[in-house]
This record gives sequence, structure tokens and C-alpha cells, in this order.
Amino acid sequence: MSVFQPGLLKGQVAFVTGGGSGIGLGIAKRFAEQGANVAILGRSAEKLAAAAAEIGRIHDGVLTVAADVRDYAAVEAALSRAVERFGRLDVLVNSAAGNFLAPAAGLSANGFRAVIDIDLNGTFNACRAAFSHLSVRGGSILSITATQAWVPTPLQCHAGAAKAGIAKLTQDLALEWGRSKVRVNALAPGPIAGTEGMRRLAPTDDTSRDQFASALPLGRWGTIDEIADAALFLVSPAAAFITGTTLVVDGGQALIGSARMLDLMQF
Ligand code: NAP
Ligand code: COA
Repeated sequence: MSVFQPGLLKGQVAFVTGGGSGIGLGIAKRFAEQGANVAILGRSAEKLAAAAAEIGRIHDGVLTVAADVRDYAAVEAALSRAVERFGRLDVLVNSAAGNFLAPAAGLSANGFRAVIDIDLNGTFNACRAAFSHLSVRGGSILSITATQAWVPTPLQCHAGAAKAGIAKLTQDLALEWGRSKVRVNALAPGPIAGTEGMRRLAPTDDTSRDQFASALPLGRWGTIDEIADAALFLVSPAAAFITGTTLVVDGGQALIGSARMLDLMQF
């Protein structure tokens, strides 16, 4: 349950890439709780249908679009469908991403490209296609990035490069689009419990996972609800003068760096 009063996004329309699961779904549900109509995009129609059922129990304005963020024409068509269905667009959330642990020396060129294509190019595609809709009455973009963007992190050179690109894109778009009343921000979660990201990136044995969590300054992993609340803040009127920034919501993980992670990983 949100710490915010309900109705913050009443009448607004949010489009969430990667909204079919994990953090993207958590954000979509939080926005629906706040009265927004929500469109969610991902590749798997089945996953989207299950997510829409969850969102529909909160608010009946939900649309699913199966598409790949790497396909600009498909993303553009998906955004147009959302605007046709709900009449406007106020918020774009870029949560779609792909990741895996891989030592750089063994990562194929195609593996590196796949992550750059989904995370960075996919984020540009959605921002570019959303701009004409968002600029009608003003709105905001929020990209879910990661601290790998600036914290040197073992086995993550592909994701780190992609997320660093998103950080720069966030600043450049914020600069260009501010006068069109479109705010552009990013949010960098730390390790978040119960997500695909952590299933892929965290150590698998219980002892190492506990060490991983207890090493964080706040001593625990975060929750999807905590990320959803931070996302809500950044798209809400409370953040009306915030643009071009990355909000770090990581329990302090970036403060201690990630080099030690190499010892905890079974690579
Ligand atoms: P997730 O549940 O796997 O979310 C990623 C979503 O993106 C999935 O619903 C996936 O659906 C969709 N997706 C992947 N490739 C796509 C593509 N090419 N086109 C369209 N949709 C695509 O993982 P998550 O852990 O919640 O991660 C969400 C975001 O948070 C990511 O940006 C991630 O980098 C960031 N993040 C997560 C953590 C964490 O602790 N989990 C920490 C820092 C940052 P389909 O497979 O159906 O397409
Ligand atoms: N380690 C090293 N390379 C890997 C890999 C891994 N664990 N998983 C995939 N790759 C490589 C593949 O080998 C391939 O390269 P190649 O052609 O040289 O062999 C390349 O990445 C593309 O793989 P493919 O399966 O065709 O990509 P895709 O576009 O279908 O899927 C992924 C993209 C790989 C990122 C996939 O894991 C995915 O769809 N992830 C979405 C969910 C997710 O990652 N959530 C967590 C977000 S933090």
C-alpha cells in the first residue's frame, strides 16, 4: 500500500514498457491505485494478460500491447493505440530491460548488442515516439536505470554501458524538452527483492545472498513498493521542478561499490 494519498494521477494516462512484470508492473499498479489509466508493453502477450488482470483489480483502465522495444515502428504504434484508447498521454515509464551475468572476456558481440538494444535503444525509441503525445499538455518520462551506470560492477559491462547511456540521454532530453513541459528523469534501484533482475544477478546460495544484503548500508534488499513510491514521487506534482536527474533508491549500495561482488559470485 502506498504512503501517498490516493488520486494523485486521477485522469492521467501512463505507458509502461516492461510493465508486465517486476518493477514495471509494481509501478503500473501504483499508478493505477492513484487513478491513472495504464498501458503496459512487453514481448509476451501471456505475461501482459496476467499483469493486466492484477492491474484491473485496482482500476479498470488498462491496455496491453505486445511489442519489442527494439522495433521503433511497433513502439510508435503501441503509443498511438494507448492515446486512441485513453485520449491522452501524461507519463512514460521505461522499465523494459534485459540482463545477465557475463564476464566481459566471454561475452559475445551479439550479447553486448542485445542488452544495448533493449535498454538504451529501446528507451530512446519509446521517448522519441512518446514526445509528440507528451508535449500536447506537458508530462514526464521516467527511465528505470541502475547504479551500474557509474559504479564499476563485475560481470555487468553490457548493462553498465547501456544504463550509462540512459543517464546521458536523460540529461540531454531533459534539456531539449523542458520548454515543451516534458520532464525527463531516471530512477536507479538497488537490489530489489522478488524480481527477475535479482534472480539473475544475485548470488544463488543462501549464505552469499545474506552476506550480499547485510553488506548494504541499510542492511537489506529493497521492495518493489519502495521503487513504485519513488517513481510516483518523480512523476507527481511534488517533483514539478525536477528534470534531468537520476534518483538513487538503493539502500546505499552505490556508496560501498560493487568490486567485492566478484568474490560472492560463482564465476
Ligand atoms: P523484469 O521483471 O524482467 O522486467 C523487465 C520487463 O521488460 C519484462 O516484463 C520483459 O517482458 C520486458 N522486456 C524485456 N525485453 C523486452 C523487449 N525487448 N521489448 C519489450 N519488453 C521487454 O525485471 P526487473 O528486475 O523488474 O527489472 C525492471 C527494471 O528495473 C529494468 O530496467 C532493470 O534494469 C531495472 N533494475 C532492476 C533491479 C532489480 O533489483 N531487479 C535493480 C536495478 C535496476 P517480456 O520478456 O515479456 O518482453
Ligand atoms: N550470458 C552470456 N551471453 C548471453 C546470455 C548469458 N547469460 N544470455 C544471452 N546471451 C547472448 C546470447 O548467447 C546471444 O549472443 P550470440 O548470438 O552471440 O550467442 C545474445 O545474448 C542474444 O541472445 P538472445 O537469446 O537471442 O536475445 P533475446 O533478444 O531473445 O533476449 C536477453 C535478450 C538475452 C537479455 C534475455 O535474457 C531477455 O529477454 N531478458 C529479459 C528479462 C530480463 O533480463 N530481466 C532482468 C532485467 S534486470
